[in-house]
Amino acid sequence: MSKPKSNNAKTISVALTLCLVCSVLVSAAAVGLKPAQVENARLDRNKNILVAAGMFNPATDTNEDVAERFKDFEVEIIDLNKGTYLDDDALKTAGIPDRNAYDASQATKNKALSEDLGSNDPAGIGRKPKYAKVYVKNDDAGQPEMVVLPIQGYGLWGTIYGFLTLESDMNTIKGISFYEHKETPGLGARIEEPEWRAMWSGIHSYDENGAVATGVTKAGNPKENWVDGISGATLTGRGVSNMIQFWLGEQGYKPYLDQLRKESGKTLADSEVKTSQSPYKKLGQSLNQHQTHKQTHPVTELVAVVPAAHGKEA
Ligand SMILES: Cc1cc2nc3c(=O)[nH]c(=O)nc-3n(C[C@H](O)[C@H](O)[C@H](O)COP(=O)(O)O)c2cc1C
Repeated sequence: MSKPKSNNAKTISVALTLCLVCSVLVSAAAVGLKPAQVENARLDRNKNILVAAGMFNPATDTNEDVAERFKDFEVEIIDLNKGTYLDDDALKTAGIPDRNAYDASQATKNKALSEDLGSNDPAGIGRKPKYAKVYVKNDDAGQPEMVVLPIQGYGLWGTIYGFLTLESDMNTIKGISFYEHKETPGLGARIEEPEWRAMWSGIHSYDENGAVATGVTKAGNPKENWVDGISGATLTGRGVSNMIQFWLGEQGYKPYLDQLRKESGKTLADSEVKTSQSPYKKLGQSLNQHQTHKQTHPVTELVAVVPAAHGKEA
């Protein structure tokens, strides 16, 4: 029997056709799945806003519950330096056509929408957005009951993204959540654990003179109004501490929070002192027995405000 003649042209054309078919299939899948990915990222971010607001029960809450509860929040864009809300006209002038679609993290890549922090960059974010997206929950009288503030800063291995919620005094921390980071499971990633996050609730952000008065200590070094760090994760703790202090500070949300406090006629001295605080001692033990499981989600949105023209995020 004679051997079939090799036909290079045929082989190459079959290989090329296969490559073409595969690349069309992969591209179609990527394009087709994009809306679902965007929707999942939005759901995850909204869920984490509710976690920081103490309005999410992982044992029972469904995606529908998240969507329904998230409607309690007004989405606002604020000018970080002035601490004021942007109304629809100001948003247009600022080049933000849609408040719901605004992504402050993305804005840091745009020179017109952000400022270089230079050497004054404790959170390690490089550039600060001029405008931030915040989530405000009003009480029945239309007064802010809580605000959820997006926060981000460099940990040990990469940028950590999260949300910090303040109570109506714009001082007491209600809750915190982290939804994207690159810290190590079992070490830095333990910042996601409910037990560690619970230590933030009830802590005051500022002293009576308006100086930021909280942060993360090195594990086992309790300090009044600070949260005890996680053993073996000092560097992640330092990153979280720096980001909290940056975002609560003059470069972050302080002008806005001062403004809200002024509008409500409250002062920092009015904040209730919660003596049941400082749970770090009793929680230290349970934390060390706990193992982290979760790692990051690909959501990158920095958050943060003008009273009229409120918008609800879908
Ligand atoms: C593979 C590996 C992963 C680590 N991941 C983290 C981490 O996510 N966060 C962190 O703060 N330290 C991490 N560390 C430890 C740091 O290098 C450093 O030793 C630690 O932050 C010191 O914390 P300690 O003073 O509480 O022991 C990691 C170390 C190794 C070897």
